[in-house]
Amino acid sequence: MIKNIGYIVFILLGAACSSEKDEYVPIDKNPKLEFTIPSNFPEPSYNVTLNPPTEKGFELGKKLFYDGRLSSDGVISCGFCHIQDFAFTHHTHIVSHGVNGALGTRNAQPLHNLAFMNEFTWDGAAIHLDLQPIIPITAEVEMNESFTGIIKKLEEQPEYVTLFGEAFEDQKINSENLLKALSQFMIMMISSNSKYDKIERSEGSVFTDNEAAGFELFTSKCASCHEGTLFTDQSYRNNGLPIDPEYNDIGRNRVTGLVSDLYKFKVPTLRNIELTFPYMHDGRLKTLKDVLDHYSDGMIDSETLDPEFKNPDGTIKGIPLTEEEKQQIISFLKTLTDDNFVNDNRFSEF
Ligand code: HEC
Ligand code: HEC
Repeated sequence: MIKNIGYIVFILLGAACSSEKDEYVPIDKNPKLEFTIPSNFPEPSYNVTLNPPTEKGFELGKKLFYDGRLSSDGVISCGFCHIQDFAFTHHTHIVSHGVNGALGTRNAQPLHNLAFMNEFTWDGAAIHLDLQPIIPITAEVEMNESFTGIIKKLEEQPEYVTLFGEAFEDQKINSENLLKALSQFMIMMISSNSKYDKIERSEGSVFTDNEAAGFELFTSKCASCHEGTLFTDQSYRNNGLPIDPEYNDIGRNRVTGLVSDLYKFKVPTLRNIELTFPYMHDGRLKTLKDVLDHYSDGMIDSETLDPEFKNPDGTIKGIPLTEEEKQQIISFLKTLTDDNFVNDNRFSEF
């Protein structure tokens, strides 16, 4: 798999360099799609000019996303684990389920606002969105397929021959175009129409008293990590979960090898959090109440526990909260649900 990634990094970087001089201008029958940055959002991290979403590229990316041909058993598509109703997570299973029922060790992440993220997965193993799908496609416990295998299957489908032909200038069915098409689909998945957004953009909505109290608590106790309008500072932290003896997932340390990164995970966005249960990297907490109980009373100490959760004398402080405060924070978190996004037909399988 490492060899595979190196090869694809190479072709993508190659493509990036050449398209800087000679940017691909979509032809008439394949118009560019409008990539609109919501007014309360920061600039995207994804360089949209290097892979501008087009009508046909998006259509191809969506078809690939929902196609079981990307896996060895012909059944497990990206959409199998990333279900739109739940902001593209999978919660009938705590950890992910791949080909032949193989179990992964992590909880599927939501897919939204990915164009604004710098790194991907719970430990930041993928440093570019175009490279991320290589992990599930080639992982034995996920899709267990190879790019050569997929390309061969796609070449046998006239529909794909036409779509790749229309979507990309070189008309080729290859891994570079496949990954670019998936990214075109995924970067368009912007979730920015929750009640919270409408309040942030002064579009007429107002918080209830409970939500307002929750927002205030959240701002003082949670927003140092779940920061800004994306609700993540994109750093890796240890929030004091007890080590799970079954998986012993070492988190960010897997990527950097640094002892100081043991048991750190990416601070997740909290958008659509009402829909993306169960919670944490291994889905161990079922409800938002469980999450708040963890922050107030459930933390365990370790070398890498975030300093924010410690007292000056080194003992655990956690985030002390009364039951009423927990309910207020939950009310606020529910204002981050974006019904437009989970019902948007552009992203639906059918
Ligand atoms: C077997 C279930 C499964 C399948 C199939 C699957 N994923 Fe995932 N996805 C996951 C899990 C679990 C994670 C978290 C992985 C980790 O942290 O190591 C994830 C993470 C991601 C992320 C990172 C999100 C973020 O915020 O960092 C993206 C993007 C993604 N998947 C896209 C895809 C695409 C595209 C496909 C199809 C090519 C796909 N996934 C197939 C389970 C799956
Ligand atoms: C010091 C940083 C930090 C602070 C402060 C913090 N969190 Fe977190 N939060 C994290 C990290 C890191 C994770 C992921 C941990 C993991 O999965 O191992 C997380 C996970 C979560 C999750 C689960 C998200 C998911 O997709 O599964 C929720 C919900 C959450 N936090 C809410 C809160 C709330 C509410 C507060 C304030 C009461 C808060 N957090 C304070 C760092 C922080």
